[in-house]
Amino acid sequence: MSRTITIDPLTRIEGHARITLHLGPDGQVSDALFHVTQFRGFEKFVEGRPFHEMPSIMARICGICPVSHLVASAKACDELLAVRIPHTAIQLRRLMNIGQIVQSHALNFFHLSSPDLLLGFDSDPATRNIFGVLAKRPDLARDGIRLRQFGQQVIEWLGKERIHPAWIVAGGVSSPLTAAVRDRILAAIPEARQIAHRTMDWFKRSLENYREETRTFGNFPSLFLGLVGPDGELEHYDGRLRFVDATGEKVADGIENADYASVIGEAVEPWSYLKFPYYKPTGYPEGMYRVGPLARLNVCDRIGTPEADAELAEFRELGRGAVLSSFHYHFARLVEVIYGIEMIEQILNDPEILSTHVRAEAGPNARRGIGISEAPRGLLIHDYTIDEQGLMRGANLIIATGHNNLAMSRGILQVARRYVDGNNLKEGMLNRVEAVIRAFDPCLSCSTHAAGKMPMRIELFDADGRKVNEVMRQP
Ligand code: MG
Ligand code: NI
Repeated sequence: MSRTITIDPLTRIEGHARITLHLGPDGQVSDALFHVTQFRGFEKFVEGRPFHEMPSIMARICGICPVSHLVASAKACDELLAVRIPHTAIQLRRLMNIGQIVQSHALNFFHLSSPDLLLGFDSDPATRNIFGVLAKRPDLARDGIRLRQFGQQVIEWLGKERIHPAWIVAGGVSSPLTAAVRDRILAAIPEARQIAHRTMDWFKRSLENYREETRTFGNFPSLFLGLVGPDGELEHYDGRLRFVDATGEKVADGIENADYASVIGEAVEPWSYLKFPYYKPTGYPEGMYRVGPLARLNVCDRIGTPEADAELAEFRELGRGAVLSSFHYHFARLVEVIYGIEMIEQILNDPEILSTHVRAEAGPNARRGIGISEAPRGLLIHDYTIDEQGLMRGANLIIATGHNNLAMSRGILQVARRYVDGNNLKEGMLNRVEAVIRAFDPCLSCSTHAAGKMPMRIELFDADGRKVNEVMRQP
């Protein structure tokens, strides 16, 4: 008799999704599906709106990553203006984007994932959360809060408000940086740097406790996609698309924004609102690829800042060719935090950073604009088409969680086959299934444009669709 287990919704991820595990007659997992069940349709909703409204409208797609949408949207608008963006404006946008990456990575590592890492995947779910971390390791919890605050303050001080800062606009940014804000951020850097390094050291020391999870948490060959700079360095704001394969060999490189659709296809499945992007030359679903911190470190030749480059050398030792275990998203995330802090300092020391020339003004000069940048979770594409009046004719958004869709389902299947025993179901087994998803750090708000969290529901069905067991848990 075959059965189904549903995990609905997942806890400690951003947004709402559901996992279904299908069990064979022997009680072992035969298939796994990751469903995104809500849809709000920003792509349709913006049609007919003036294009210059897009950055502030698109930032409202997600309360978790508004800055990522601001950046990609403004870059798409820049292409519609077809003007040169002032150097200082680019640097200031980079600064805000990196602030977002640091705060988001701190949120994932400390608030969402460290309960599993510190307390154990099988520990009591009642205390397997940030409060449990606070009780056992108050120093670690405090570091998490402080580091996240640092990233948030960069965003807040630049944009004047933390959520949906409409400071990034078509053509640049709306106001220059003041010396006071520059100095305030610079003063906060030493503490952030210390936290980043001691967290990295703690994580590396703990890695040996998770040898089995490393082996089975989404550990499989796939392609990887990310932006790289002109010298192959890590790049979050600009750059060109690069795909590498599981051996680390480049399979596509130097792809310009305008050509993204020649390498990325989007498949649709009837059971999910989230599309399934794939590498077009390989086809669907074999063209599975991953984005985000793990992918970015796999595609770049070097990082480009000294402290993070030293960490990259250790990261590379985790695999031959590309690093394949999705458990190492955590490692990569911490390397990016170190990089982010170095970059923030570097940008603030740019001699032109206080320049007041931060915006290029123009009307629409092109009918299509494609903005691509790296969000904390991975590559983000905003593709806009306008009419002669500058009104939106169409928008196509491809978000990080979409790129990772195929790989997340594959990761769930692998971890579920290893840990879930349908004949003797234990909470810790399902927590590991959730934990592999947390490693990818999906943003379901972005994928679905739906906000809010719901309690987690795990349901067990028999072959006749009869519910035989149910577990409820509050987020
Ligand atoms: Mg789309
Ligand atoms: Ni989001």
